[in-house]
Amino acid sequence: MLQAEFNQALAARAAQVEAFLSEAFAAPALDGEIERPSTLMAAIRHGVLNGGKRFRPFLVLETARLFGAPDRSALYVAGALECVHCYSLIHDDLPAMDNDDMRRGQPTVHKAFDEATAILAGDSLLTFAFDLVSDKANGLPGDTRAELVNLLARAAGLGGMAGGQALDLAAATAKPDENGVVTLQAMKTGALIRFGCEAGAVLAGAPMADKKRMRSFGETIGLAFQLADDLLDVTQTAAAMGKATGKDAGAGKGTLVSLHGEDWARGELDRLVARGEETLQLYQPRSQMLCEAARFVANRQS
Ligand code: IPE
Ligand code: IPE
Ligand code: MG
Ligand code: MG
Ligand code: MG
Repeated sequence: MLQAEFNQALAARAAQVEAFLSEAFAAPALDGEIERPSTLMAAIRHGVLNGGKRFRPFLVLETARLFGAPDRSALYVAGALECVHCYSLIHDDLPAMDNDDMRRGQPTVHKAFDEATAILAGDSLLTFAFDLVSDKANGLPGDTRAELVNLLARAAGLGGMAGGQALDLAAATAKPDENGVVTLQAMKTGALIRFGCEAGAVLAGAPMADKKRMRSFGETIGLAFQLADDLLDVTQTAAAMGKATGKDAGAGKGTLVSLHGEDWARGELDRLVARGEETLQLYQPRSQMLCEAARFVANRQS
């Protein structure tokens, strides 16, 4: 498959996810909600509907398609994952964390609004994600919804993304070794990407062996995703990335790129893509889109 074909598919999926989330945010207060404050809503829209790549929801939607699930149910889970991801970015940019002013080419939420609003927008997005996954309206069986809630909680929380962010902040002084860096990256970035792949199989009701295989594929491309981010932090301009670059070295943060150099990182990205393709071998040719997604992770320029 050509990269151009993949880019088209990614753009089409992004539009689908954005339309779904825009509508979900605009809905009147749901049963059990009292009202949705307009400033908080505006901050949420600013932090979500602002031009991300939508790579994580793409993984959910394409994995769900691979195992034959309807798009409509998959969209709820894909949208939920993007909400958790956007929450993680809004909080990651706060002064107490990476203290960044630009995200996706625009002022970060705490710059466009204020810090308290950014914290609350993140809180609201995290809980909204669980609303979407557990909502009967998504048409999934009750036990599937419960399984997805559990997987998402573990990917996002203490032993996943949030825990990884804590290790990442500590890394500036703790100076973890290579294994330590791999672990923190598997947590802060890998866990949500892994969830994207695994969730697609779970929501489709795929057998355990397929769920495991997709989890393994997600782990592999999750590592690749953060390695590429760290490489781009060194090689790209802020204008190309839509966010500040040169931050990791500035913060004295060890990454695999600072430990081993850019050439090693490019070789490692190729090895991870090959491992990902190998994992999906038995689904060929239907897994071509996901294999192209792995190549996209390694070759992306923003
Ligand atoms: C950025 O993620 C944060 C990392 C985990 C490296 P993305 O590169 O997916 O950011 P968006 O969603 O496209 O803005
Ligand atoms: C972000 O890692 C991981 C998250 C969970 C948000 P970075 O701090 O490197 O992400 P960017 O470079 O700000 O997007
Ligand atoms: Mg960070
Ligand atoms: Mg950051
Ligand atoms: Mg980064």
